[in-house]
Amino acid sequence: MQKGAELYRGKAKTVFLTDQADLLVLEFRDDTSAFDGEKIEQLERKGEVNNKFNHFIMQQIEAAGVQTQVQSLLSDTESLVKKLKMIPVECVLRNYAAGSLCRRLGVQEGVTLNPPTFEFFLKNDALHDPMINESHIIGFNWASQAQIDEMKALTFKVNSVLSPLFAKGGMLLVDFKLEFGVDAKGQIILGDEFTPDGCRLWDSETKRKLDKDRFRQGLGSVVESYIEVARRIGLAL
Ligand code: TMP
Ligand code: ASP
Repeated sequence: MQKGAELYRGKAKTVFLTDQADLLVLEFRDDTSAFDGEKIEQLERKGEVNNKFNHFIMQQIEAAGVQTQVQSLLSDTESLVKKLKMIPVECVLRNYAAGSLCRRLGVQEGVTLNPPTFEFFLKNDALHDPMINESHIIGFNWASQAQIDEMKALTFKVNSVLSPLFAKGGMLLVDFKLEFGVDAKGQIILGDEFTPDGCRLWDSETKRKLDKDRFRQGLGSVVESYIEVARRIGLAL
């Protein structure tokens, strides 16, 4: 496999073409972004940590029967992934209230949500990723009802795999965001990433934040915390 030209540069990752039409290279950079790109900093080793973390988590998800884009680790900061046509919506599942849910509804951080809350957001930085509902997704042709139902079911399935995994490491999976795409056969596949950049993880006892909220809130020790999360779930980085 030969790495080709840059296809797309996002805030924290870059996508490259390869000599195989159905495969791409996903590079995790050290860039760390928050507030839709308003705050961007380079954090040493974050690309490597997130690349390896993502590969490890995606393997667990695959083992539970959810198809993911990830094929293999290529280098410290790169993974080989299946090419997908990405659906421009973000699927957010919340086990505990935090972040925008607290701001929107005035609920206290940490309130248990049982059953978990599910929300869709439009992937659009300029509009600050507004919350949308199923009729927007269908009306604007971003996905079909069947695809919506599948993305939702797969998001709950991922929660049922990862919540116990993090619980074993003494952590609460507070919330997380997933993005899906469609492959050449029309199947819905989990794409993008699962790293502490796109989820919230708290120490179960002390409620210490171990995810990107450390960066958003200027709490320090960002990459160190990601490495600690990895260690607690059995991945040495
Ligand atoms: P929120 O509380 O800001 O709505 O975020 C909920 C979860 O989804 C949180 O773990 C962060 C993640 N997320 C992203 O990773 N990227 C995004 O663009 C959004 C809106 C949320
Ligand atoms: N991922 C988004 C950004 O980079 C939102 C966030 O994580 O705060 O701005």
